[in-house]
Amino acid sequence: MYMVRKPRLTEVVSMKELLDGAAADGLVLPRELPELYENVRDFYVYADDSRLGGLVALHIDMVDLAEVRSLVVRKELRGRGVGRRLVEAVVAEAGLLDIARVYALTRLPEFFERNGFRTVDRNELPYKVFKDCIRCPLNAECDEIAVVKDLALEKE
Ligand SMILES: CC(C)(COP(=O)(O)OP(=O)(O)OC[C@H]1O[C@@H](n2cnc3c(N)ncnc32)[C@H](O)[C@@H]1OP(=O)(O)O)[C@@H](O)C(=O)NCCC(=O)NCCS
Repeated sequence: MYMVRKPRLTEVVSMKELLDGAAADGLVLPRELPELYENVRDFYVYADDSRLGGLVALHIDMVDLAEVRSLVVRKELRGRGVGRRLVEAVVAEAGLLDIARVYALTRLPEFFERNGFRTVDRNELPYKVFKDCIRCPLNAECDEIAVVKDLALEKE
């Protein structure tokens, strides 16, 4: 049965394949296998015992800020709430860690807005969070939109 859970190390190669597919369409950054193993604890997957249906990562940048990234749902499973469940899993983890704000850099702000984020000016995010941009072919011509969810405000 498919469920949202932490990945198994034996699933990392399939995680890379899913990411590579979306990266080829320019929707996420590609990740190399060593980087995926090193950061595997950032991830949640939507999977059953034999197949991976989706994945997402929560990557901590600093004491009060973490990025939701590497979000991909297999094409044939889209539109059924899987993306939402994956985002909910990382937002819940950010809440447990008392992280004040989560953000994403995305070409799909509408998806995040439907999942409780709001669009902000990229300059609202600290410069440090753009360190991965150097690996992106678009770099200076970046068309990604910043979306945030303020967990600290929601707790008040
Ligand atoms: C973006 C993606 C993860 C969404 O996954 P999904 O499982 O299809 O999304 P869900 O079914 O959980 O949708 C949740 C909500 O978002 C909305 N939504 C989903 N995809 C959307 C899109 N492309 N544009 C706008 N809204 C979208 C849904 O309508 C739904 O809203 P509602 O319940 O209020 O009607 C999936 O399309 C995907 O893997 N895309 C390719 C990779 C990508 O672009 N990743 C994002 C990088 S930041």
